[in-house]
Amino acid sequence: MRGYFGKKTAIVAAPLATTSMAVAEAVEVLHWWTSGGEAAALNVLKDDLAGKSIGWVDMPVAGGGGEAAMTTLRARVTAGDAPTAVQMLGFDILDWAAEGKLANLDAVAAEEGWDAVVPAPLQGFSKSDGHWVAAPVNVHSTNWVWANKAILDELRLAQPTSWDEFVAAMQKVKESGKTALAHGGQAWQDATMFDGVVLSVGGVEFYKRAFIDLDPAALGTDQMVEAFNRMATLRGVVDDNFSGRDWNLASAMVINNEAAFQIMGDWAKGEFLKAGKVPGTDFLCFRVPGSQGMVAFNSDQFAMFAQTDEGAVAAQGEMARAIMSPSFQSAFNVVKGSVPARIDVPNDAFDDCGKQGMAELAEASTNCTLVGSIAHGHANKAAVKNAIYDVVTAHFNGEYDVATAAANLVGAVEAAQ
Ligand code: BGC
Repeated sequence: MRGYFGKKTAIVAAPLATTSMAVAEAVEVLHWWTSGGEAAALNVLKDDLAGKSIGWVDMPVAGGGGEAAMTTLRARVTAGDAPTAVQMLGFDILDWAAEGKLANLDAVAAEEGWDAVVPAPLQGFSKSDGHWVAAPVNVHSTNWVWANKAILDELRLAQPTSWDEFVAAMQKVKESGKTALAHGGQAWQDATMFDGVVLSVGGVEFYKRAFIDLDPAALGTDQMVEAFNRMATLRGVVDDNFSGRDWNLASAMVINNEAAFQIMGDWAKGEFLKAGKVPGTDFLCFRVPGSQGMVAFNSDQFAMFAQTDEGAVAAQGEMARAIMSPSFQSAFNVVKGSVPARIDVPNDAFDDCGKQGMAELAEASTNCTLVGSIAHGHANKAAVKNAIYDVVTAHFNGEYDVATAAANLVGAVEAAQ
C-alpha cells in the first residue's frame, strides 16, 4: 500500500529493558482526549494502568485532531522536558522518530508478538527504521455520518445511499426548520469532512493520486473542483453558529434532536454512547454516501519519549504492554468509538457500528480501499496537511470559489513539500 511507509532515517535509542516487576513509577501522558466520550475512554486506560501500579500524570491539551497538543509537545521537548508518553498520529510519529527522540519498544514488542497481530498499514507508523517506536491503541476512521434516527423517521427519510440522496435528505431537514448538518467551523473539522467528500467523488484511486502521491494533475483536476462543489453544498446546510464550534458540541446537536447529521470520525460515537444513545435505535452510522466500501483511517498511538531514569523507562514498557493487550483493546475501543489495532480481538463486546467498523476495516484492507486520513496525519507530513487545511477552510468560509480552491491547492501543496 503506497504512502503508508514514509522514508525515514531514524536514530532510535537502545531497546527498553522490559521487566514484569511491579513499577511504582508514573507515566506522564500528553493527549487531547478531553470531550465526555474521550474522557470515558481515557479512564479505561487510567484504571488499567492503576491496576498495574503505574501512576498517571495527566497532561491534557484540548483540541480535536491534536494540533494544539503537538504545539505543546514541541515546546516541552525544546525545553528539555519531554513527557514520557504522547498520543500521536501517523506522520508525526515518524518525524519524532527521525529526530531521534523516541524510545525503542522492540523488546516489549518481541515479547508480546506485536509483529504478528498489528496490521501492516499501522506498523508503517508504529515502526521507524524497522524498530517499534509507538504502541497503537486503536483504529479510527473519518468517512462516517452520524444521524438522528427520530428526525429521519419524522421526515420519512431513508438512510441515504448516494451523494444525491444525501443532499436531498439534508435539504428536506433544512426545510423542516432543523439543522441539516451539525458542524464546527475549525480547520481540522472541515478537513475531516473533506476526507469523505474526496472519496465520494473519485474513490481511492483519485484520493491516492491527489493526497498520497500529491500528483499536481490530480490536485488540480475537475474531480477536485467537484470535491469543492460538494464542500460548498455542505456549507449551505450548516447552521448560522457553526463557526469555531467544538466537534463534540456538534455531536450534541445530533444527540439532542437539533440536527439530523454530522460527518465526523467514529470518536463521535463515543459522545452518543456517553449520552446513553443506542445505535440503530437512537442514531444511525453509515459511510459518507458515495464512499461505501472505502475507509479513511487514522490510528492513535502512544509514542514514548526516550528517558534515562530506570523507573520511568520501566513504566513506559509496562504502559506499552498494557495498551496492546487484547482485553484492553476491546474494553477501550468499545468506549472510544474506534476499533482495535490488533487483528485478533473478538468483536463480541462491540455494538453494531463497532462491528460494522471492524468488518469494513478488514474488507478495505483486503480490497486495497484503505487510505490514510488526510485530516488526521496519515496521508502526509504535517506541513502538507496544514497546507491542505488552509485551502479547504478558506474555501469553506467563502474566501474563494471552487476553481480557485483547486488551483490554490496545487500551489499550496507544492510549496509545503
Ligand atoms: C483522534 C481521536 C480524537 C479526535 C478528536 C483525532 O485526531 O485520533 O482519538 O478523538 O481527534 O479529538
